[in-house]
Amino acid sequence: MHLKASIAALAAAQLAAAQELMRFGCSQLTIDRIDPLVNPGSLPSPHVHQVIGGNSFNVSMTPESLDPPKASTCTSCTYSEDFSNYWTANVYFKARNGTYKLVPQFANLGLNVKGGMTVYYIRGYQPSARVTAFPPGFRMLVGDPNNREASRVPSGLCFRCEENMQQTPFGGAPCTGADTKAFPKSTCGGGWRVTVTFPSCWDGKNTDSPDHKSHVAYPQSGSFESGGPCPASHPIKIPQVMYEVMYDTRQFNNKAEWPADGSQPFYWSHGDNTGYGIHGDYVFGWEGDALQRAMDGKCGGDRCSPLKRQSDADAIACTKGQSAREDLGTDKWLTIMPGQSNVPM
Ligand SMILES: *[C@@H]1O[C@H](CO)[C@@H](O)[C@H](O)[C@H]1NC(C)=O
Ligand SMILES: *[C@@H]1O[C@H](CO)[C@@H](O)[C@H](O)[C@H]1NC(C)=O
Repeated sequence: MHLKASIAALAAAQLAAAQELMRFGCSQLTIDRIDPLVNPGSLPSPHVHQVIGGNSFNVSMTPESLDPPKASTCTSCTYSEDFSNYWTANVYFKARNGTYKLVPQFANLGLNVKGGMTVYYIRGYQPSARVTAFPPGFRMLVGDPNNREASRVPSGLCFRCEENMQQTPFGGAPCTGADTKAFPKSTCGGGWRVTVTFPSCWDGKNTDSPDHKSHVAYPQSGSFESGGPCPASHPIKIPQVMYEVMYDTRQFNNKAEWPADGSQPFYWSHGDNTGYGIHGDYVFGWEGDALQRAMDGKCGGDRCSPLKRQSDADAIACTKGQSAREDLGTDKWLTIMPGQSNVPM
């Protein structure tokens, strides 16, 4: 093993040991052009997302109109009291002839869900610190689909080009080593791991804000991982929510299909081929005090006695049909991505 690789493996092991972190699989609930956080009521919304979690996910879901644990009849997450919704944009491959296909997803090693995401709720390195679960109605956004600058991508959002499909379960600490804020520039034999990490401090008052961001903040100094303190404006330590989304890019590794100038051929579903528009959306929906129990009980992994767990098969069975009925380019090459005008190469 290379020295660098063994240091990374050690860092991952230390990370797992020192932080209590819930890490669980959620299958794909749907891929759809609706976004109840940023574009409530719009059918279709501007771009395609993959969504996981409770099946009450809908075009409009204000805290007043819809309580996910009550309105859902199932969840695609393995912790069965979690009816939250989690979503990110999809990735499309643009072939040299200008047509697009949706990049399929796969479950992280060690999880038996279908596509979807790996969700983390991380307590951090200070086991004694109180971590306050989100209140009902809480929601937030990280990243910006309109961003095209590396410097404006928040830390904790990145791409990893996997060498092979058998990445270690934790795959090393996120956004370290060769991880990039841009789409990987070369072919990846094991697809991509995309990490989206949310801020971990809250103002303690607002469950949302006009930009869906300003009610939360990053630690004042240091990092969440190092136990950095929250700023006075956002004093409440909340669980650090993190998504890992695995994209199986292998069927698109034929360089003869890549642009002739050798540039990378992938696009976010919002028409971005830099990658810097990476973003994630979160709508809290845990039942009762389940998430607080999990935090207080220092839950780790995807089995923890204060929480109920359903079978992987039951999580996979929870799906929701498309509201915006259109071809997503799953099997067929599309001349444009849903909702997008044609983007020049
Ligand atoms: C979504 O909202 C519409 C309109 O309010 C409603 O008719 C429908 O039942 C909702 N779907 C789900 C899955 O809750
Ligand atoms: C475009 O390229 C893809 C990938 O090679 C191919 O499958 C498809 O048939 C092509 N479409 C046209 C219209 O040439």
